[in-house]
Amino acid sequence: MKLTVGYLQFEPRPGDPELNRRRMVELLLPHRADLVVLPELATSGYCLAPEAMRAVAEPLDGPTAGIFRELARRTGAAYVVGLPELDGGRLYNSAVLVGAEGLLAGYRKIHLFGFEPEIFTPGEAEPEPVEFRGTKVGVMVCFDWIYPETARVLALKGATVLCHPANLVLPHCPRAMVTRCIENRVFAVTTNRVGEEAWRGE
Ligand code: ACM
Repeated sequence: MKLTVGYLQFEPRPGDPELNRRRMVELLLPHRADLVVLPELATSGYCLAPEAMRAVAEPLDGPTAGIFRELARRTGAAYVVGLPELDGGRLYNSAVLVGAEGLLAGYRKIHLFGFEPEIFTPGEAEPEPVEFRGTKVGVMVCFDWIYPETARVLALKGATVLCHPANLVLPHCPRAMVTRCIENRVFAVTTNRVGEEAWRGE
């Protein structure tokens, strides 16, 4: 089964989801693929203070899923987009898989990095692959790369393509993801972002 995958690395403007969604749509519209992976927290930017992150968070089936569903209807692709999710007062560092039918899956990052636990609750659910155009695809988010388990669980459940939105901070991820792919016999699309944000960490 052939699946054409792509990625978009862009520079999100911190705290401006409307602008970031417009920018992603504008950049993606001319391109055709089956599946396109965008960065972690692509709608919000990464280094926001807790209240600023809460202000731009949304449900999994919120404005971002709606806008990407419309984009998917025009391009024929599906998209994996990182966003801050608000559910029952809790914030999660999540990613959605959205196609022309709408929201296909959501995943909450389990392994939070640096200052992220000040903002986000870690995901508690095991990642579940989704059948997409004849291929089982899995979603994991950035620092999930550091432990073998996330990729391994997805692979044991049959995923052969790992969609991996990221805001890379440490230099090791690109090599670690090659290891994850070799040890699990899977492919991965790791999408970093470009540009700089003021780091809020130690
Ligand atoms: C990270 O998990 N964004 C480093």
